[in-house]
Amino acid sequence: MLENMRNEQQISTSVLVIGTGGSGLRAAIELAEAGTDVLAVGKRPRHDAHTALAAGGINAALGTMDAEDSWQQHAADTIKESYFLADPRTVQVVAEGAARGIEDLERYGMNFARETDGRISQRFFGAHTFRRTAFAGDYTGLEIQRTLIKRAAQLQVPILDTVYITELLTAEGRIFGAYGFDVNDGTGYLIHADAVILAAGGHNRIWRRSSSRRDENTGDSFRLAVQAGARLRDPELVQFHPSGIIEPESDAGTLVSEAARGEGGILTNALGERFMARYDAKRMELSTRDRVALAAYTEIREGRGTENGGVWLDVSHLDREVIMKRLPRVYQTMMELQMLDITEQKMEIAPTAHYSMGGVWVDPLTHATEVPGLYAIGEASSGLHGANRLGGNSLIELLVFGRIVGQHAAQYSASLAAQPRSAQAVADARARVAELLGSRGQENVRSLQRAIRDLMTEHAGVVRDEAGLLAGLAKLERIEQRMENVGIHPDIAGYQDLAHAFDLKSSALAARATLEAALERRETRGCHNRSDYPAMDPALQVNLVWSPSTGITREAIPEIPEQIAELITEVSQEGKLVE
Ligand code: FUM
Repeated sequence: MLENMRNEQQISTSVLVIGTGGSGLRAAIELAEAGTDVLAVGKRPRHDAHTALAAGGINAALGTMDAEDSWQQHAADTIKESYFLADPRTVQVVAEGAARGIEDLERYGMNFARETDGRISQRFFGAHTFRRTAFAGDYTGLEIQRTLIKRAAQLQVPILDTVYITELLTAEGRIFGAYGFDVNDGTGYLIHADAVILAAGGHNRIWRRSSSRRDENTGDSFRLAVQAGARLRDPELVQFHPSGIIEPESDAGTLVSEAARGEGGILTNALGERFMARYDAKRMELSTRDRVALAAYTEIREGRGTENGGVWLDVSHLDREVIMKRLPRVYQTMMELQMLDITEQKMEIAPTAHYSMGGVWVDPLTHATEVPGLYAIGEASSGLHGANRLGGNSLIELLVFGRIVGQHAAQYSASLAAQPRSAQAVADARARVAELLGSRGQENVRSLQRAIRDLMTEHAGVVRDEAGLLAGLAKLERIEQRMENVGIHPDIAGYQDLAHAFDLKSSALAARATLEAALERRETRGCHNRSDYPAMDPALQVNLVWSPSTGITREAIPEIPEQIAELITEVSQEGKLVE
């Protein structure tokens, strides 16, 4: 099988999309509809992309349930809950373009939940002023993914499901393609492209308890972008979702959708107290995610949690039909993983790493990176969510920016008169794969991945402090040294071990960026709780932009347009560490 690494497929396309989840597919569809040559590649089958896990819904101010809603209010809610770290220009693009995003999905045949008169149903998600989250049960992401796959197939978008991209290729500072290998048979892939769209997710799997599965969201986009010369923005801003399951250990962190709280679920501690009354008496379970996660964390930490280190989430008082219709996935997941019937029993949950709100630095309007020809989108990108993402905003972001990035990448490709390439860059990319493949050291890649996840959980979880973050960096340095001595052993099943080794490199880079930026953000803001700096610092109302060569620089955030600013009500500190 090692022989296969000597084989290499060479492909040329106008635009290469890396990642076949919702954002990658939406961009590919836009390109194909415009008649631009496109190829999409992913490291796991498209049907099983992470988007398929997205549960509760997708936001757009359609006003189907609350006619007073508007895109301006959606933008205002997004900026307010980002703790003023979101880029208002990006927020406006998404809020204003959201209805079009839903229309696109309807045009492709998406099955939204509807009211009896045919209106798209919309439900409450935490911290939204109005009901604006459209959904398909709690399988919204799965239904979106299916819809996009179907549309991509109609357009005959070529998709390779098993190609792992190891690096982006640049010459004279510009993108000219990517290098990778097939995870099943090890065949090398040299892909020449005018432009590359990175849609390979975020880094939330580098925590022990995560709503991502094994081998997804391991920071691949971050490493690929940084190695090509791009920078990251706010990598420390990681959303911990309040409700991940605790058991079994192999599935710890699996999401119980916020839809459970949206439909009326109740949170209690081991004493039976409805503890949200202590943290946000007005909004209770529908408070913001950062507050509910911190509240659950605090209850557990202060000894009011369950024996297993969780709190209770109960929907058993809801009508059985409501549960079956609006929370079918939560019902099935709890049956499958715990044989627990949520129509009768409560669920034991704890915070779980859920979403990278920071990501690759991109232009607020086009999502172009600073490397000509390279774009980033979806969880790989940054700018919309700031320090706390509104549930349901990630799915709409990928619909809106999928279209926009597709258009910009197509224009970029069409505008090129010539493209510099580098035989040396290709040779280096090949050599790096061969070198890793030939590694016969003693260190096991899986156990090093686990070591990173352990250190991030211990030192960069829901609540952080200076001493812990420094200790985390010291541990990371030792892991990075051990990474010099890995052993890679492809076997009869394929080249997964090689893929895991690249995942490990990505995780280590993402962990370093996160720890360094978390150290620098000496304040508590949204998801980022610093017990040694429990208040928000106005001087840190900036984005932290990181690269290994420049370290961290601070970037100012533009003014909020008047029509949005006037809809933002006071940001209360209730429920934050400062209390
Ligand atoms: O809880 C959820 O259903 C997650 C939604 C989201 O992260 O947007």
